[in-house]
Amino acid sequence: MAAPSVFAQILDYDNRANPYPLYAELRKTPVARQEDGSYVVSTYREIEALLHDPRLSSDLRNLAQPGYGDDDTPGTVPSILRLDPPDHDRLRRLAMRHFGPPHTPGRVDAMAPDLLGIVTGLIDGFAGRNQVDIVDEFAFPFPVTVICELLGVPREDVPRFHAWVEAGLESLDPKATSPEQQQRSAQAIAAIRQYLAELIEARRRAPGTDLLSALATDDGPEGRMTPEQLLSTAVLLLIAGHETAVNLITNGMLTLLRHPDVLERLRRDPDLVIRTVEELLRYEPPVHFVPWRAALDDIEVAGTTIPAGAQVMLVLASGNRDPDHVRDPDRFDPDRFDPDRFGLARDNDQHLGFGGGIHYCFGAPLARLEGQLALTAIARALENPKLLVDPPPYRPSAVLRGPIHLPVSIDGISV
Ligand code: HEM
Repeated sequence: MAAPSVFAQILDYDNRANPYPLYAELRKTPVARQEDGSYVVSTYREIEALLHDPRLSSDLRNLAQPGYGDDDTPGTVPSILRLDPPDHDRLRRLAMRHFGPPHTPGRVDAMAPDLLGIVTGLIDGFAGRNQVDIVDEFAFPFPVTVICELLGVPREDVPRFHAWVEAGLESLDPKATSPEQQQRSAQAIAAIRQYLAELIEARRRAPGTDLLSALATDDGPEGRMTPEQLLSTAVLLLIAGHETAVNLITNGMLTLLRHPDVLERLRRDPDLVIRTVEELLRYEPPVHFVPWRAALDDIEVAGTTIPAGAQVMLVLASGNRDPDHVRDPDRFDPDRFDPDRFGLARDNDQHLGFGGGIHYCFGAPLARLEGQLALTAIARALENPKLLVDPPPYRPSAVLRGPIHLPVSIDGISV
């Protein structure tokens, strides 16, 4: 029997805790054809070029044969994540109008005090404890509460979302999930959709100041989203903005505990958090690869022709560690994002953590704010934190990769 391909080994759960040596192996063949006819791209330059290539579609209905992750719920309209121009661009503009500049410049910044309140409340829960789970008690509850706040989901309903979102995300990595998990996931997504459809209807009749109300009542120059489009957008925001942010915070805490010198610096100098979060998005990114791309035409990349109809997977986490792009890529070094250190001479401030091109993460400003507030607060509050298990246990997914638990011992909390 042939040895499993490098990519198959990356998907293997046994390698979840440290896939980076395999990514180095993968980069020896920048565009690698897999047995099932899909292509895996692992070098920075090629990924970056393909993220901007209009011949690569995010609509997996363009695949020649069924592929990884092309199982959107039947009867639902695709979200912007799975659409191409012009539909993608118009819907993204409609959503962006209410999320950031120039139309709604203050939406994300205005959330900062509330976000800080949520973080502080969670840390207060650590009082009197010698051991905490950073995932269950901090990194998981925080982003789900934030997205609910953004969408205008009432606080009392937030705990229901915790359970739905957790179950709903199980099938994001179909190769890593059983039929039972996929069924649980489908049921959870159905519950989320029904809840949000009712909430949208309520906000249309009686708008508040939240994002859903704005989207439901928008009469801007490009018109309104249909109710189905609005529902798909809301579900996407919830799903795309949850597990990713959980992993940013958890991977962040894990990396800081493995680099106590940086943790100590962060305690003393909270401004370091901006560079720390950027470096985390490069060094331990929450999204390891983007599997949902289909070639619309024959595409020649690094000497290989990807045929029309083939599935293309862009391994962002490997591109981030490409030594042809980043100096000393396996070193965690927030200062590489210090403009004073390298000046403009070096392309040192680019990472693929939020993707690139027309699908560049819509929620990046909010994700950065969440990561920065969470890591500053927790670095300052935990007294003498120590990892109890290293490596910690990981979630099944190779795509959205992060620990499922992160037990840490502490001497107490400082207020
Ligand atoms: C650290 C946290 C996050 C990371 C690492 C992340 C990463 C990404 C990546 C890599 C993509 C590109 C996918 C592609 O090219 O197909 C993306 C798209 C997207 N993200 Fe995020 N994300 C994060 C947080 C968020 C948050 C908080 C939100 C919502 C408020 C969000 C909403 C979206 C949406 C709507 C898209 C689709 C954009 C489009 O297709 O035009 N993300 N994200």
